[in-house]
Parts: sequence; structure tokens; C-alpha cells
Amino acid sequence: MKLAFLASGRGSNLKALLSACRSGQVKAEPALVISDRPQAGALQVAADADVPHLLINSHDFQSRSEHERAIARELDKHGIDLVILAGYQRLLSPFLVGFLYEPRLGQSRILNIHPADTRRYQGLNGYAWALKEGLNETAVTVHFVDEGMDTGKIVAQAPLPMYADDTLESLQERGLALEHQLFPQATQKVIEELEQLCAAF
Ligand code: GRF
Repeated sequence: MKLAFLASGRGSNLKALLSACRSGQVKAEPALVISDRPQAGALQVAADADVPHLLINSHDFQSRSEHERAIARELDKHGIDLVILAGYQRLLSPFLVGFLYEPRLGQSRILNIHPADTRRYQGLNGYAWALKEGLNETAVTVHFVDEGMDTGKIVAQAPLPMYADDTLESLQERGLALEHQLFPQATQKVIEELEQLCAAF
């Protein structure tokens, strides 16, 4: 199983997943990291882990569709089985979701992590939303990616308790630690599903 990661930011989830691949918790080869932003820390994370990495800068393309076609070519070239959005800040178009659609799974071969319960909140800044809502508990969610924003089928979710003295920083710190546990677990679960499907055909 070959994994590709799309990442736009600091890359802490990428780092956790690469380490889970090394330890054998995730039984797959991290074959490619693509970032859409030159300044993304994720590129350095990939370099430090000796994983092939590429910048496919969205600003170098006239349209989202051309940018995504360049990404799809690389995924194809590297024989990627599963794509992990590890802090990728762009909404995927129907083209890329369709390109990775797996009919036997009834889902795309793309996973995303979201810092909230996707049934309650979609979009950016999930931890800030939970603070603004004054919740006692929020969640982190791993889900398949479909054409909507954080609307795909949930693979795994973990509750994140919130405390009266929480700040954005404290909540984010605990939330990220939880994300780093949940994402490898959920990824391995999907890898096993995909392997069962392959064995059945
Ligand atoms: C995480 O909070 C993730 O849930 C969200 O974007 C953030 C990415 O952080 N989708 P990092 O780049 O993995 O550190």
C-alpha cells in the first residue's frame, strides 16, 4: 500500500503518520508528500524523514483544475493507493475526488482529519469554533473526503473534553495530541478495508 500526503502547513499530523509507518502501526509505504505552499513546514518534515516530496504551488497554475491535474499525474506516476490530507487547506474539486473514487469501497481513497465533529461544524478553525460555542466537549474526526467541505463518511472520531480555563492554545495542544493518535489508527483501519477488498477480487 502506497500513501501520498497532501499538506499545506506545519505538518505535525504528517510527522505522526510517518512515525506510525516507521513503527509498523500503519502498514504502508509513505511514498510521496505534496505541498501546495512553498513555506509549508510539511516539506521539511518529509525531507527529514527521507520521504520524496514535491511542491506543486497552486500559484503556478491558472486554475484549480490545472493544479489538481498536476497533482493527479504525480499520484498516478507514484502508484498511490491512498491519499491523506494532513492539514491540506484547499477544498478538492469533483475531479480529484472522482480520480480517487474506489467503487468497491463506495468512497474516495482520500482521508482527512478535522478538528471538530464534522456533523456539527465544517470548515477552518474548529478549535476556535468550539471555544466560541462554549462547549464542554468537542471532538476530532477522520473522514473520507467527498465533494463537500468536511461532509464525507466518518471513519473514526475521538471526544476532546474542554475545561473552563481552556484557551485556544491549550485546547489546540490537547486536540493535536489526540489527532496524532487518531489519524494513524483510522488510516490503518482503512488500509485493512482496502486490503480486504483487493483480496476479495
Ligand atoms: C490540524 O488541526 C487538522 O485537524 C486540520 O489542520 C491542522 C493541521 O495541522 N485539518 P498540522 O499541519 O498537521 O500540524
